Amino acid sequence: MHESLSKLHSIVGDDGFVTDPSVASTLLNDERGLYSGRAAAIVKPHSTKELADAVRVCFEAGIAMVPQGGNTGYCGGATPDESGSQVLFNLSRMDRVIGIDEQGFTMTAQAGVILAAAQQAAAEHQLLFPLSMGSEGSCQLGGNVSTNAGGLAVLRYGTARELVSGLEVVLPDGRIWSDLKGLRKDNTGYDLKQLFMGAEGSLGIISTVVFRLYPMPRVRIAAWLAIDNIGEAVAVLALLRNQLGDCITSFEFISREALGLVLRSMPRTQNPIDTVHGHYALVELAAFDDGGALNSDFEQALLEAMANTGLSDAVIAQSEQQRLAFWQLREMIPSAEKQMGGSIKHDVSVPISQLCSYSESVVAAMERKFPACRHSIYGHVGDGNIHFNVLAPELMQADAYRRENADAISDLIHGMAMACNGSFSAEHGIGMLKRSELAKFGDPVGLELMRQIKATLDPKGLMNPGKVL
Ligand code: MLT
Ligand code: ZN
Repeated sequence: MHESLSKLHSIVGDDGFVTDPSVASTLLNDERGLYSGRAAAIVKPHSTKELADAVRVCFEAGIAMVPQGGNTGYCGGATPDESGSQVLFNLSRMDRVIGIDEQGFTMTAQAGVILAAAQQAAAEHQLLFPLSMGSEGSCQLGGNVSTNAGGLAVLRYGTARELVSGLEVVLPDGRIWSDLKGLRKDNTGYDLKQLFMGAEGSLGIISTVVFRLYPMPRVRIAAWLAIDNIGEAVAVLALLRNQLGDCITSFEFISREALGLVLRSMPRTQNPIDTVHGHYALVELAAFDDGGALNSDFEQALLEAMANTGLSDAVIAQSEQQRLAFWQLREMIPSAEKQMGGSIKHDVSVPISQLCSYSESVVAAMERKFPACRHSIYGHVGDGNIHFNVLAPELMQADAYRRENADAISDLIHGMAMACNGSFSAEHGIGMLKRSELAKFGDPVGLELMRQIKATLDPKGLMNPGKVL
């Protein structure tokens, strides 16, 4: 082991070999404080070559490897185990946007580029990189792709997977598989890049990505809607889509309870609709002209929705500042939950037409079995993906409640989603946290294929062991 560590040190140099205990400790603990690991070494390669050379050293010595991006994941997919025998590969020094093709609408970037920096780089060319989420100031592109991240604009632009047109990956034995041509069309056999997206670093380490870019909207129009329930949110969205077409980029549900957490815990926040309504939704549209025509079509469609669905009120943001304030209310929900002692998080999806009955049945079952717990329900209604988060009853100690009830609560919420042909993990992945759920709910043939793929690409089982499968 000692000899391999010195080889790693000489490959990445002093700048890429973490020895500072305070840096190490942030990298060895996960975002939610659920996992704490140890590592034989933490390396930060600077290029694909350094990464591949370092991986080869580990492969030859039989050392397990854990890839890590911005370390913002929710399922412990980027934390080493407690043995102290694994090498952590942190990608943050591979942070170069390699190029932007304005005519091909693509961006080629190293895996360690921070998502917000990639958005900014595209914006400097008047192009849109549409992947967007609360953690965009610190999550990294490689992690986004490895976990097939979703976020706030999936409705219009898709998840990370749908934005990728080329990939370079360092395989578990140190070979480099590279397909960075970024072609829109290439029907030459298996689409190998699909294997690595959503694999959470269990099949190799993504080193470079080619992304699709989009025209930059000139104007964004957002509205805060008051609605009776999730079913009505779904109906409003369908009406707006039929009336306005593809210009709807986001449609987020925010339950009264989730908004209440934000208003209570975050200073200077206020409900844009100042009456006691059922629940809320935030909708955003993009226009490529001055937005005047779209604005009036939108007002018209909202009036129609008020007449024909459970939309009871709507406020269209009158300034960019107000639009951002609407988004802040939505994006602050996770940190408001954290301030309230944290939640038992869920990230389920069901067919959109069943969202309402699913949510109502879960709330009813929860009220029977876990009386007094608080719900924070919000999320990406347009994608059929809801965060069904559960907080300890008022005045109860959050940690103790979680320890005692989390497994049973998650079983109920996940089990009911699966019974509706849904998913127990719509966007946050599997990592360590949901491995047993995957084993329990996964299709047996699908799981067998996954194991066979894993064994083919990683016969020694060295790449991110203990994650996903
Ligand atoms: C979100 O949509 O805000 C996150 O995916 C969920 C969370 O942070 O709980
Ligand atoms: Zn989400």
